Amino acid sequence: MKKEDLKHGLEGVAVAISSISYVDGEKGKLVYRGFEIEDLVENSYFEEVAYLIWFGSLPNENEEDFIKSMLSKKRNLPENIVEMMRLFPENAHPMAVLRSVVSMLGMYSKEDNSTLENAINLTAKIPTIIAYWYRIKNNLPIIYPEEHLNHSENFLYMMFGELPEYSKCFDKALILHMEQGMNASTFASTVTSSTLSDIYSVITTAIGTLKGPLHGGANEKVLEMLEEIGDIEKVPEYIDNLIRNKKKIMGFGHRIYKTYDPRARILKKWVQEISAHEKVDFFDIAVKVEDVVVKRFKDKNIYPNVDFYSGILYNHFGIPKEFFTTIFAMARIVGWTAHAMEYRKNNRIFRPRSIYNGPKDLKYKDMKGVEING
Ligand code: COA
Repeated sequence: MKKEDLKHGLEGVAVAISSISYVDGEKGKLVYRGFEIEDLVENSYFEEVAYLIWFGSLPNENEEDFIKSMLSKKRNLPENIVEMMRLFPENAHPMAVLRSVVSMLGMYSKEDNSTLENAINLTAKIPTIIAYWYRIKNNLPIIYPEEHLNHSENFLYMMFGELPEYSKCFDKALILHMEQGMNASTFASTVTSSTLSDIYSVITTAIGTLKGPLHGGANEKVLEMLEEIGDIEKVPEYIDNLIRNKKKIMGFGHRIYKTYDPRARILKKWVQEISAHEKVDFFDIAVKVEDVVVKRFKDKNIYPNVDFYSGILYNHFGIPKEFFTTIFAMARIVGWTAHAMEYRKNNRIFRPRSIYNGPKDLKYKDMKGVEING
């Protein structure tokens, strides 16, 4: 293999055939199982879209009852795990906690594969892990799941002990984050799944990959950046400084979207609507950042991505910034598991190559530099 064969970062390489979602990077379109994302956020809700992504079509009434009851009955965590969580360091990052607890759940299960039942089970438990950690970390009593609440409402109830008025908007934000083709965490988890490993290993891989700031971890970094800027007047200087130092501006750019990410457009619209009647922290700074970045990078087609406005919304909802990426994971598990199951139908282990450029003819020497078999 020659250096010219290298596809750095696998850019442009197709690794699977999939009917789960379609991303049109030129037109800025995202389609789940044939439905445009705008249509789904307008008319649907978490459980229904999860069903669509897993099964390939929207549920009828019986199927809707089935998915709702499956997701609501599997929310509880083994008490031993909750006790162990109480021993975690209080400053542990929520994504590290989520990754570790998902991995721990694997010890409580038989060697399980990527079946739908396991996918639903883990999807139901992830909000509980996040909310319990929020309560434990803040020395608050744990709030157990409520079966009669839907997926999003139950999560917000377990976090805050009440049902906030924004729970519908939160639910729609989860739909936006549910699936996005062969992104880094979906690919990483599909690789793990392709070895026929168990679903806990698959999702642990995915969470670890999503955590990185070039992927899902960007939403937390965006808020850090906006806090650091602190004043709309300082935006141009701050951005120009990042550009001069060749630093990435968090929440901008995308491997596939070379125009406005449709999810960013929707999130910005929601924040705009809220800010028409109440103050939304950092929104004015963010709009200015967008304006400056888009102008500075007009030749490179760099626009806000999904992580740019989501953090502003979650911050407005009272969710601490270190929890932002866990919210992303809570939604994206649907896509991760759908891809793992789809790939298994025609499984082949992933085994790419690297192009060796090191020496090939060295002879072993002992520590004194004497060749042993010389
Ligand atoms: N800030 C500044 N420059 C950026 C940029 C950003 N956010 N995103 C891309 N670029 C520039 C790169 O510096 C590079 O310039 P060059 O050709 O002069 O070297 C060019 O655009 C292509 O970027 P590259 O990093 O090769 O694109 P990629 O497809 O490998 O990476 C991301 C995509 C998302 C990882 C990248 O845009 C990024 O790091 N964004 C910030 C993190 C983020 O928001 N991640 C969430 C993604 S949903």
